[in-house]
Amino acid sequence: MPTPFTPARLQALAAEHGTPLWVYDAATIRARAASLKRFDIVRFAQKACSNIHVLKLLREAGVNVDSVSRGEVLRALAAGYQAGSEEIVFTADLLDHATLSTVVEHRIPVNAGSIDMLHQLGEASAGHAVWLRINPGFGHGHSHKTNTGGEHSKHGIWHTDLPAALAAVRQHGLKLVGLHMHIGSGVDYAHLAQVGQAMVGLVKQTVAAGHDLHAISAGGGLSIPYRDGDAGIDVDHYFGLWDASRREAEAVVGHALTLELEPGRYLVAESAVLLAEVRAVKNAGANRFVLVDAGFNELMRPAMYGAFHGMSLIGAGGAVQPTVVAGPLCESGDVFTQGPGGEVLTRELPPATVGDLLVIHDAGAYGASMSSNYNSRPLAAEVLVDGEASRLIRRRQTIEELLALEL
Ligand code: LLP
Repeated sequence: MPTPFTPARLQALAAEHGTPLWVYDAATIRARAASLKRFDIVRFAQKACSNIHVLKLLREAGVNVDSVSRGEVLRALAAGYQAGSEEIVFTADLLDHATLSTVVEHRIPVNAGSIDMLHQLGEASAGHAVWLRINPGFGHGHSHKTNTGGEHSKHGIWHTDLPAALAAVRQHGLKLVGLHMHIGSGVDYAHLAQVGQAMVGLVKQTVAAGHDLHAISAGGGLSIPYRDGDAGIDVDHYFGLWDASRREAEAVVGHALTLELEPGRYLVAESAVLLAEVRAVKNAGANRFVLVDAGFNELMRPAMYGAFHGMSLIGAGGAVQPTVVAGPLCESGDVFTQGPGGEVLTRELPPATVGDLLVIHDAGAYGASMSSNYNSRPLAAEVLVDGEASRLIRRRQTIEELLALEL
């Protein structure tokens, strides 16, 4: 998809802050949040982008938050989300000791993906609010690495274990808030009706076992158009399918149910670009390589999933030609144009020269949040643009900070 920024703006930001640089657009994030208003609660899966300033922006837009680690819980609190409320939920398949203490201390509702979590939480904090995350036995994803349902997946409580999970809830006097399902990233409408029906079946079992519940969560997984011509998600259609399941479930429980959605990618992916500077151009046999100063330590998605990101070059002109775009890392897989099997692909780009600016589109989700320090590269800076204003929301890490951890 096109970026929300003009080339001149990006050039100015790169000149001011250096590269590699993440640039987010506040207006795009607000617009995506507003488009989901029909859901009772929208809960941002902050693993997609956990910068505190992005979380604050979403909080101001009325979006709640999901946390999957102690760090993400502390980030949510730092962004102003309230402890002991429905604003933050902790979702995971296990509780390490430090995280267990933190969720108990801050009374953060826990979305349990294993029965052991229920026992550990129940022993530490009787009466704690819980959700049950159920693996319905099937799933889907844009890659098998993002499919979180079915028997190959470690996520969630297996559907036939629901009675045992409910028994653990009762045994410890835990407070059941609702049932949750997230079966993968990348919506597939064919699966949606099936997921909704599975949810209704689980609600029936829950009520039959003598439990009440207040909410159901549709999880995340909403896709975005990474390629020109990709269909964007039809939010109304998506809501309609889940709303129908919610109504069926309400007839079972005999009262209103809150319908939650838990998107990560949809809210932030299209809001940001990753900027990198072209530092070398060379040919290897038939391939023309453009080497830039960002690598898979910044944006991991192409190397990890063969994910496609749109790209444009600022400064370059002339007829497009097949180009391999790669980074600085000492690793052959550090290529932004590659397929799911790691095969090197080309992109049609104008001839680049050193100093041109490469813009990698739709980089706001699972971009900065999946970055690493591989090859001892400091984490890149992040900038948030809001209309005419822009501000640094994470400064560039320094090598000295990295070394200090080891001294
Ligand atoms: N809820 C749960 C419990 C999840 O595990 C996830 C994503 C989400 C919500 C949000 O899913 P989304 O709406 O963003 O699809 N790194 C991969 C995606 C991994 C997703 C992990 N869980 C990527 O770059 O595509």
